[in-house]
Parts: sequence; C-alpha cells; structure tokens
Amino acid sequence: MGAFPAILSSVRRGVEQAAQVLSDVLQRLRKELKPGVMTMELDLLAEDLIRSCGAEPAFKGYVVDGRRYPYTLCISINHEVVHGMPATDRFFREGDIVSIDCGVRKNGYYADAAFTVGIGTIDDKARHLLQVTEEALWLGIEQAIPGNRVYDIATAIQRHVERHYYSVVRELSGHGIGRRLHESPSIPNFVPTGSWRWRFPNERLRSGQALAIEPMVTAGLPEVCTAADGWTVYTADGSLAAHFEHTVLVETPPVVLTHW
Ligand code: CO
Repeated sequence: MGAFPAILSSVRRGVEQAAQVLSDVLQRLRKELKPGVMTMELDLLAEDLIRSCGAEPAFKGYVVDGRRYPYTLCISINHEVVHGMPATDRFFREGDIVSIDCGVRKNGYYADAAFTVGIGTIDDKARHLLQVTEEALWLGIEQAIPGNRVYDIATAIQRHVERHYYSVVRELSGHGIGRRLHESPSIPNFVPTGSWRWRFPNERLRSGQALAIEPMVTAGLPEVCTAADGWTVYTADGSLAAHFEHTVLVETPPVVLTHW
C-alpha cells in the first residue's frame, strides 16, 4: 500500500478513462493508414473522435520551450523519430513506416500512446526494426512492478535494442502521467551514466503509479536533429526510426491501459 492510496486510486480511475478513449481512437485511426491518405485528414478525424467522447486532444496547445504544439497527432514518417506534424502536403506512401502518437485528456486526467506501422508492403529491414522496438516496449513494461526502479525499465529496453545493433535515442524519454501529460519520473530508454544520472533519478516505482513508457529506436546511430519547424525530431544519419508507447499502471503484473 502506498502512502496515499486514496489519491492513487482516483488517479488510476481518471487515467483509465482517458486511456479508454485513446484506445478507441487509435484503433479507429489504424484502419485509415493506407497509401494516399493525407496526414492532416487523419489529424482532423482524430480530433473529432476524441471530442465526440467528451475528451480533449492533449497535445494540441501543449507548450514545450515556449512553443505551442498545434495538432492532435504527432505523425512521424521513416527517418522522423517523433513530433512529426500533420500537413495538407504530407501523404502516406506505400513502403513508409509511420508513427502515430496521440494523447487524450478526460476529466483532467491524461493518457498517451503511440505505435509505428508500415504503409502497404514494407521491406524486411523496416519490419524487423518495428518488431524489435515493440518487443523493447513490452520488455520495459514487464519491469513496471512495485519495488523496481526507473533504471530497471531502461535496462530492459536498451539491452534488447542494442542486442539487435539498433540505437536508443537519448534526448527523449518516457514519463509519469496523471493530472499532467508529463510528470516525474522521466523514464530514459537507456541506462544513464555520468551526468545523465542527474537528469534521470533512479526512483523506486510505487504501486498504482501511471507511467508512459516509450522506446524511440533508430536503425543507425542514436543522434537526432530538430527540423526548422521547431518540432520534428529526425535521425541525424537519415536511418529509419520507430516509436511505440503505452500508458501503464505499476502493479504485479503491470496493467496496460492503452491498446492499439
Ligand atoms: Co509520451
């Protein structure tokens, strides 16, 4: 039992309800992921679906470094890692790999999830990257049990990714979630060394805590750049990237609240 079981159980109910809306939306969006679809159309559909469930898009208007994100979805294609933006001149093409990332706020509570899929037929290298990244997410989730620590999640993810000679992105991480989209702890996808350890305290995980676990993996080097739009994060070497995310509750076993 945690120190504030009543508070944790109300967070749990709130995040669960946001996650239910998010899961319905993501499952609906998945059906639209075909060649020729305009990314902006998908964004408008996502916003409609979320609002029709009495919820709000969590990313729209979210401020990072004084900049307001303008859309409901982040849509990141091929060498884009995260925070790619919907646009009227961005369309899905056969062979692309596309990450769809979405957050929902309902009754003041948040849920956050992402998945990466191929459009039409993708080559074996791309398919393997998606498989390994999703496996890394599930191995990380397995560690989200009371008494474990943040670095247990990081270790599981990094080990799996690097065993396959892929890289984890260092500049972005998973996070606690609840009454805010991003709460402590930050959950790196690698085991911090040296001064990185200040940025990522190795906190103990508490029963009932909600976490967004989200490995971001590149097929090449780990370095990323940010585009001139101020948002789109892409691989510096142009290699493909994949991103999978679930909102989970720390329990034995862990409870996965989102579905895609
Ligand atoms: Co997130």
